[in-house]
Amino acid sequence: MSPPILRFVQRGQLQACAEVPPDRTLLELLREDLHCTAVKEGCASGDCGACTVTLAERDAHGRLRYQAINSCIRLAHSVDGMALWTAEDIGAADGALHPAQRAMLECHGSQCGFCTPGFVMSLFALHRQHRGDPVTRDEALHALSGNLCRCTGYRPILDAAQTMHHWPESTQDEAATRAQLEVLSHSDAAQAPDTDPAAAFYARPRTLAELLTWRAAHPQALLVAGTTDVGLWITKLQRRYAQIIDVTRVAELRRIERGDAVVTIGAAATLTEAFDALAEDRPQLMPFFERFAGRPVRNAGTLGGNVVNGSPIGDSMPLLIALGATLVLAGAQGERRLPIEDFYLAYRKTALAPDEVLRAIEVPRPQPGEYVQAWKISKRLEDDISAVCLALALQLDGDRVLSARVGAGGVAAVPARAVKTEAALLGQTLDAATLDAAAEVLRGEFTPISDMRASGDYRRQVLGNLLQRVLDELQRGAEPALAALQPELVR
Ligand SMILES: Cc1cc2nc3c(=O)[nH]c(=O)nc-3n(C[C@H](O)[C@H](O)[C@H](O)COP(=O)(O)OP(=O)(O)OC[C@H]3O[C@@H](n4cnc5c(N)ncnc54)[C@H](O)[C@@H]3O)c2cc1C
Ligand code: FES
Ligand code: FES
Repeated sequence: MSPPILRFVQRGQLQACAEVPPDRTLLELLREDLHCTAVKEGCASGDCGACTVTLAERDAHGRLRYQAINSCIRLAHSVDGMALWTAEDIGAADGALHPAQRAMLECHGSQCGFCTPGFVMSLFALHRQHRGDPVTRDEALHALSGNLCRCTGYRPILDAAQTMHHWPESTQDEAATRAQLEVLSHSDAAQAPDTDPAAAFYARPRTLAELLTWRAAHPQALLVAGTTDVGLWITKLQRRYAQIIDVTRVAELRRIERGDAVVTIGAAATLTEAFDALAEDRPQLMPFFERFAGRPVRNAGTLGGNVVNGSPIGDSMPLLIALGATLVLAGAQGERRLPIEDFYLAYRKTALAPDEVLRAIEVPRPQPGEYVQAWKISKRLEDDISAVCLALALQLDGDRVLSARVGAGGVAAVPARAVKTEAALLGQTLDAATLDAAAEVLRGEFTPISDMRASGDYRRQVLGNLLQRVLDELQRGAEPALAALQPELVR
């Protein structure tokens, strides 16, 4: 069986591409097959933003949801049924520039120009998300967090972001795009697994039942979500995959449900969606979430992908451990639930069986008297990997600690729960003496390695320091005290 025909809308036209290999990246398809050379390749690892394109999908209400993503680590087949724009596609037919392009020109936002198509596409997504209304400096900074410029400097580019609403947008393709996507969605037929175990395929199941059928038929196939980890296995490690099952169309895995006791986050909810849902209950965590990669990676990557990838320096797991999250694993035999800390067996080895998928992550809702905070220590604010990460959830009765859960990253072969530190906090009065003692326990609880990001000694020292910060924050009156501290050290 050949991979299915890949269909998407570009420049108002339907693109239909046959015989696209399952592991071809979107950047390869655009540049090499379709000759859209405005899209640039810089790092091929999601770090620089030169390859940024904008995608749109219809949301549950039929509206278009625009997002900037990195095409270098995105698989071509994943955009089937979507609309896509590159910097060549957004000007008007008469040659008039789009407001994002015009503002970059007027503000002198480009020198060598290599990064510019990527910046323009992040700005285009921002312009569409704001429906042409003004954006704040902060919104611009976040929207451009995945784009690097090595020569212009960011001030003119941020000026462009804040002035693009001054220019009229002459291309209004929204209604036509919505109609085209609707037509595509009607012709999206279900695929059944091939009986030939060696056949190449890119499967896009739409229900959990279809996904489990594919998984059972092809346990050796690569399961993918946003491919912000997997994409690098292809571009950097040069691995090839002929059989791919994409979980991002599965309705049950995309859903986020808010119950009385837990928020259930579908494993294929993007990091942007998942973090928004978690921050609705615990807004003090937003600065921590904004430290995760940059906006395009959070728009594509999923919470389930982060959890299953199981990197010891992954950032969501320490927090999910502290919050007492439960993983819902689905397989041919039904579902089972596992506390997240029991999922990690050894370095990059998890309890997921070959026929199973992660369906959802259940996160308990806040209780009165709760204190929750998480910190990431890295050398750069955005798009950087943690040297260490610490997350803490306390249940307090006045100043007495009724329960404590502590998650840590960058300290062991797996994301870890600091049970000795929890014991040092439990039942104690939350004061300087308790935190000093608990910090000493935490510094001794793990034996982190030394590597290019930090020495083991530094990691141990910083872990304890983070715990000691709790009192400082509580004394300042609230968790948002975080924002008042040195952002480059804290956020
Ligand atoms: C530039 C850049 C910056 C990054 N920064 C950070 C960072 O700051 N912090 C951090 O923690 N990570 C970071 N990452 C890593 C990555 O973005 C995250 O791990 C992300 O959450 C992975 O999700 P994904 O959907 O892209 O997973 P994919 O790459 O699609 O898959 C990852 C793994 O999960 C498996 N998988 C995915 N979904 C399921 C499922 N439902 N059931 C079973 N298995 C599944 C896949 O088979 C694969 O083994 C960064 C990556 C890049 C490229
Ligand atoms: S080429 Fe650098 S992010 Fe894609
Ligand atoms: S203009 Fe040269 S890298 Fe940005």
